[in-house]
Amino acid sequence: MLEARNIDLYYGASQALQQASISAAKGEITCVLGRNGVGKTSLMQSVTGRHIARSGTVQWEGKNITKLPAADRARRGIAYVPQGRQIFSQLTVHENLKTGFAVLPRAQRKIADEIFDLFPVLRKMLHRRGGDLSGGQQQQLSIARALVMKPRLLILDEPTEGIQPSIIKDIHNVITILKQQGEMAILLVEQYFEFARDLGDRYAVMDRGEIVLSGEVSVMDEQEVRQYLTV
Ligand SMILES: Nc1ncnc2c1ncn2[C@@H]1O[C@H](COP(=O)(O)OP(=O)(O)O)[C@@H](O)[C@H]1O
Ligand SMILES: [Mg+2]
Repeated sequence: MLEARNIDLYYGASQALQQASISAAKGEITCVLGRNGVGKTSLMQSVTGRHIARSGTVQWEGKNITKLPAADRARRGIAYVPQGRQIFSQLTVHENLKTGFAVLPRAQRKIADEIFDLFPVLRKMLHRRGGDLSGGQQQQLSIARALVMKPRLLILDEPTEGIQPSIIKDIHNVITILKQQGEMAILLVEQYFEFARDLGDRYAVMDRGEIVLSGEVSVMDEQEVRQYLTV
């Protein structure tokens, strides 16, 4: 269980998050929605430790990790699939996947067959350079690399952004499978409303650094949420 509460985050003098709270539970998907620039990525990075909150607390599996560096959080099972994928274009698919090993004890440094079952295209392209993959394939690689880390919290930051529809469908299926397995908590940042609605259990909508709406997707007021997504 993740519980981030009342997070304030600054870049220099400019405040990116104001009293933002978000939670995530094992076996559930929490969607974070909102337009560009409202603080979605900043909130995720305050959870991963990439940026440290000025105030507020981050609790994970019952421990206070508010001040913990990113690498230590990763070792505690928090994996982040960054916006824009950020795979290593000069490394092969296999080498990219192996970068996920860094957070694992030596005995566990193995790419599970399941990862290739989820992303068959990666098995076929194992020795190709990351940069030779299509955008959608790179997104799949980025998710697979996070899964190599055997996360208990998986954070996906706009995984459908700029991706062709057929691969969006594949990614949708993978997220559904991961949820059904019930082993991890998932935080899904999205601007693609239908994707979030179909997958999410809970949702939070952000505007100008704050959480402005939140609740269960089953009783979400679609119109109300959409007004925060359209420009
Ligand atoms: N590294 C950074 N340095 C300075 N400002 C940043 C940085 N990252 C994001 N910002 C600013 O913080 C605000 C929130 O950005 P971000 O969290 O990326 O929003 P979103 O993910 O919702 O698009 C924006 O105004 C953005 O310009
Ligand atoms: Mg973002």
